[in-house]
Amino acid sequence: MKSSEIRSRFLKFFEKRGHKIISSAPLVPQNDPTVLFNTAGMQPLVPYLLGADHPAGKRIVNVQKCVRTQDIDEVGDNTHDTFFEMLGNWSLGDYFKEDAIKWSYEFLTSKEEGLGLDPKRLYITVFEGDENAPKDVESADIWKKCGIPENRIYFMGADTNWWSVGDNGPCGPDTEMFYDVSTEGLNLSSKEEFLKLEANKDQRLIEIWNDVFMEYMKLNGKVFGKLTQQNVDTGAGLERIAAVMQKTNNIFATDLFQPIIDKINEFSTKDDERAKRIVADHLRTSVFIIADGVTPSNSDQGYVLRRLIRRAVLHADKLGMKHGSLFWIAETVIEMYRDVYPEVERSRDLIKSEIDNEEQKFRTTLQEGVKKAANITELTGQIAFDLYQSHGLPLEVTKEITMKPIKDEQVFFELMAKHRELSRAGAEQKFKGGLADISEMSVKYHTATHLLNAALRQILGNDVIQKGSNITPERLRFDFTYPNKLTNEQKKQVEDLVNQKIKEDLPVGFKEMSKKEAEKTGAVHAFGEKYGEMVKVYSIDDKKDGFFSREFCGGPHVSHTGELGHFKIAKEEAVSAGIRRIKAILE
Ligand code: ALA
Repeated sequence: MKSSEIRSRFLKFFEKRGHKIISSAPLVPQNDPTVLFNTAGMQPLVPYLLGADHPAGKRIVNVQKCVRTQDIDEVGDNTHDTFFEMLGNWSLGDYFKEDAIKWSYEFLTSKEEGLGLDPKRLYITVFEGDENAPKDVESADIWKKCGIPENRIYFMGADTNWWSVGDNGPCGPDTEMFYDVSTEGLNLSSKEEFLKLEANKDQRLIEIWNDVFMEYMKLNGKVFGKLTQQNVDTGAGLERIAAVMQKTNNIFATDLFQPIIDKINEFSTKDDERAKRIVADHLRTSVFIIADGVTPSNSDQGYVLRRLIRRAVLHADKLGMKHGSLFWIAETVIEMYRDVYPEVERSRDLIKSEIDNEEQKFRTTLQEGVKKAANITELTGQIAFDLYQSHGLPLEVTKEITMKPIKDEQVFFELMAKHRELSRAGAEQKFKGGLADISEMSVKYHTATHLLNAALRQILGNDVIQKGSNITPERLRFDFTYPNKLTNEQKKQVEDLVNQKIKEDLPVGFKEMSKKEAEKTGAVHAFGEKYGEMVKVYSIDDKKDGFFSREFCGGPHVSHTGELGHFKIAKEEAVSAGIRRIKAILE
């Protein structure tokens, strides 16, 4: 079964059961600036999981673009990738365990409407219970009713069967579905056997779907209590399902990757399966990230993108690929996905030029490193690490160029480990705010961000376009397009205008309307592709001119601008050419 068929079967199956199809949100969260990328289908839906009304209703189905880079070192095995599409069906305070599990089972096993998988190869995990929530006997019983025997249902702890992101937000126990893709048939009959395969990362048993029963709330890292509604959040990785359906046992041999690998083969002169997979994965992800408006830089999303392209360059070198060929691989990715995600077609030229430029830039840096390495008289771990850090030179390359043994190689690895730890700690810090930072101050900063966006457009002109936003309870950060440094006068005008609108104590409210209607209202937006879907438009109404700010946004916001206090720009600086950044605080 082709991946396009899997997508459409999934959407149709749930549409028939009362779900509205919604399109994927962009990869960069539009109104949840506390994370870099959507890493799961639930992220753009957090406000609705917390109880806000979704314009499309209580039953939703979608395919969400996701990027996860925390497992980047595992890319190259059979199942890990950094970009993936997540199939999800959603109950926002509507159906719960019974229907969710029954439909998962039906979709997986039905030949007519679903995937037609063999029920005898399904293995299930459910939550074993802890101080936060009871043992999920109910889910296990529903699975049994579906026909899964008890010896293929395993109770597991919160480390594997509790879903949450960050320190704050909706969460809950989950039940995961695994499929046996071995040729011989594993025929497991106990949890011990199952755990053994899991521990060995045996890729004959693939996790294909997760149903989360989201009825709890996490605050500051602790499960705090129940939400006002019981939700269902499900996630099935399209790439993995394609691997199962196409009997390839690895995602890189599916139709979601094979054309990219074929193209890489055309350019390669050496054979290295892992390197091919890394190049394919990183370029596919880069294409989607650029299509959603990110360009390589040294911070945030731009930094992730830069790392992906640079890693792809290093692995392309391992394959003996000609300099400048990555651009052609990107072209293949665009061709493969243009029908499903028209944004890649729209950004075709930009994607290719950004990837090409970044490759060239990195090669210049590498060349400088190569020159330095060639002049080294004694190679130490510290020197090798410095070359890696400032010029991106991998250890093997340094050794090859210097043609010298390395004196204290363990120092290099120690420094690398420390470096990795530091960057991981940095990334965790970044994600700590979690998705659903709905603290009072963050909500205020969210509304202040809308005021700032409108004020900038009024003072500097409508060429100002939001490029990024990040909110913590301490400050807001806003990136936007503008060619010059702001003068003191301009900054003061912007500040004064925001403060005036706060003083006027304007009402903040939203209306639900179709995307088409929303566009007509002049709302600032970042819509996906399909029209006709319902969206929320938040307005800050101005007594004189109708509205001061109008943006497509999920909320939440304060109800009156007067709640914000005094607005002050703390810093204005450049992020990259043509993009400025403002940090501002409420006093
Ligand atoms: N949010 C759940 C996941 O991503 C479904 O696995």
